[in-house]
Order: sequence, then structure tokens, then C-alpha cells
Amino acid sequence: MIYLDNAATSFPKPAECLRNALDRYLRIGASPGRGGYDRAVEAELAVSTVRKKLCRFFGADEAHRVCFTYNATDALNLLIQGLLRLGDHVVSSRLEHNSVLRPLHHLQRQGRISFDLVPFNPDGFIDSDRVSAAIKPATKLVILTHASNVLGTVQPVKEIAAVCRSRGVPLVLDASQSAGAIPIRVIDWGVQGLVFTGHKSLLGPTGIGGLVLAPELDPEPSRFGGTGVDSRSPYHTMEYPYRLEAGTINLLGILGLEASLDYVDQSYAASYAREMSLLRKLRDGLGALPRLRLYCANLLDHHLPVLTCTVENHTADDVGAILDGDFDIAVRAGLHCAPLVHQDLGTLEKGAVRFSLGPFTTEAEIDAAVEAMATIAG
Ligand code: ALA
Repeated sequence: MIYLDNAATSFPKPAECLRNALDRYLRIGASPGRGGYDRAVEAELAVSTVRKKLCRFFGADEAHRVCFTYNATDALNLLIQGLLRLGDHVVSSRLEHNSVLRPLHHLQRQGRISFDLVPFNPDGFIDSDRVSAAIKPATKLVILTHASNVLGTVQPVKEIAAVCRSRGVPLVLDASQSAGAIPIRVIDWGVQGLVFTGHKSLLGPTGIGGLVLAPELDPEPSRFGGTGVDSRSPYHTMEYPYRLEAGTINLLGILGLEASLDYVDQSYAASYAREMSLLRKLRDGLGALPRLRLYCANLLDHHLPVLTCTVENHTADDVGAILDGDFDIAVRAGLHCAPLVHQDLGTLEKGAVRFSLGPFTTEAEIDAAVEAMATIAG
């Protein structure tokens, strides 16, 4: 199989990372923070080491404000539902994934909040001026994807953060696609909340993600239960990181994430350069096909190795099925859980086909993908 669906989840994973995590789990797999015996203490120490590593990796400085969740959707729900109060207004964008759009829509339908979605420009970027224009006195949060999962475009975070700072509104970044692919520096950029998942460019297993919070952002917990601290209180602790973590956390996932984070930390700059050079090759190959249309692929400078296209007279599902059935090439076809992007591209009806590269993609696989698409679209 040629796997070109790394934006959904990276595959394959570095096997040594998973083996290392499993070995450690078999050795120290007691309940972190829930006992005074050696293995439980060791498990808690291991978890807190991963918080520190993530904090450093994302350019933050308070490791206890790194909270684990089961993926980015989970973290976004905790943040959005924990931060917003009756009457609050939110600024977000039309590039967002349903993991942002749906929590916002549900709160709006309950009459609790309102929101405005900033459009993206023809190249797939959000202009900071548009964000500024959408901020109102009631705006309590700006929440944006760092990189579009459909277009691969990386948003101008520093400029947007400067706008948010000047208007006194916190900025939360959904880094689902970018974390582990490109550098993220939350303090330098002035970002107050960062959401990540472990299973995409961080090359970790599924089921582990998290959020990194600046001191300005204190979401109310919306899940309550055991934390291993302050057990006498009838109420969930307000202390971090347990404030947003209820119940036994995913130790195996956290150890897997640590191993892959160490791996990514060493390799991601070189890997990104390599993947982008392969993406250019893919873009040039697909761009030459007469019945194929690429979206927002002219400027690949602020971009992830993701490319989306449509083929005349074909639905995306058809193209995806032919790639899979006839060529054993895995891509993601359809709406990619980001319907507004497709509405604006004009691809809502037929969907689009997304190629997303990863650290293990080879040049031969790109050649094979172009050849397959030439057969379909030629
Ligand atoms: N959000 C993931 C994607 O873009 C699953 O495919």
C-alpha cells in the first residue's frame, strides 16, 4: 500500500517508539499519582517528564499547565465549553475542522454564545485584518486552526496573535495538523492556548492529545471525578494539571507520545524539508494533468505537505475508490470534516481528494501517485 493519508493519522509509526513505550509500560504500568509505592511514583514521574518535554517542545514554560486529553477534539471541547460564558462572542474561521465548529454551533444553538467565522483568502490564508475586524467588545476568545487540514496552509499566527493581544482577547490555536510538523513557540508568538493530538505529525499512538495553557486562560472543568489529590473535597480540584484531567490517564499513550516526541524532536526539521520537496513534485505532476484542479497550491512556502484536488466529471469518492482499488493508494476523499472550506472552494457537492505526505513517504510513491492520477484524469 502507498499511504498518503498522514493528515488523518500518520502511518506507519516508528516501530521502535511503540516498542520502547510498551516495554516501559510493562515495567512501570501502575496508576500514575494514585499510590505511594514505587511503581505508582515512577509512573507519575514519567508522566510529569512528558509534560515537561511537551512544554519545552511547544515553547511554553509551565509544565503543570500541560493537560492530557484523548485527542485534539477532546481538548477543544474542554477549552471551548470550559471558557465560554453566557453572552460571550467568539471569533474563529471558515478553515476550521468540525472539532471547533461543532462545539461552537452547539453552544450557539443553546443560546449561550455567538460567533463569527473569518473567511480565508484565495490562497488559503486568514488575514489578521479580518480577525481584527471581527473582534467585538463581547469577544472572549479567538480560536483558529494553525494549519488547514484540507489545504495545508499554515496561518500567520504571529500577526494574528499581535492583533489579539492589542485587543485584549486570548488566542487558542488548534495545532492538530502542525504539532510535530513545524516549530511552535507559544510564548514567543503570544498564544494563550495550544491544542495538539499525538497521532498525526507527532507520530504517536491514537488516543492521546492535550492542551497547553498560558496563565491567562483558566477553563472551568467540565468533567469531574478522581484525581488522586484532595480526595476529601466533594468538588473537583481547580489545580493544574488535574483540573482538566478526571480519572486514570492514558499512561501507555503518554509513554508512546514521549517516545515519538523524542524521535520527532531529532528529525522533524529535515523531515519537513524532504516532505515539502516531495509535495512540490506531486504538485507539479498533478498540476500538469488537464482534467485535474488543485486548490491553493501556488504558494507552498507556508504550507504543510498536504495537497487537495478534484478531477473533472468524477466525485472525490470515486477517485478515492479507484486509487484504493486499482492502485492500492490510500488518500482521504470527501469533506475532511471541514465543510466550510469545501463550501468556499466549491467542492461541497463532489468533495475533494487529499494527498498528505509523511516522514516515510518516498519519491517512488509520489511518482506512482502522479501516474495513477494521470490514468484517472488523463
Ligand atoms: N481530522 C483528520 C483529517 O483531516 C481526521 O483527516
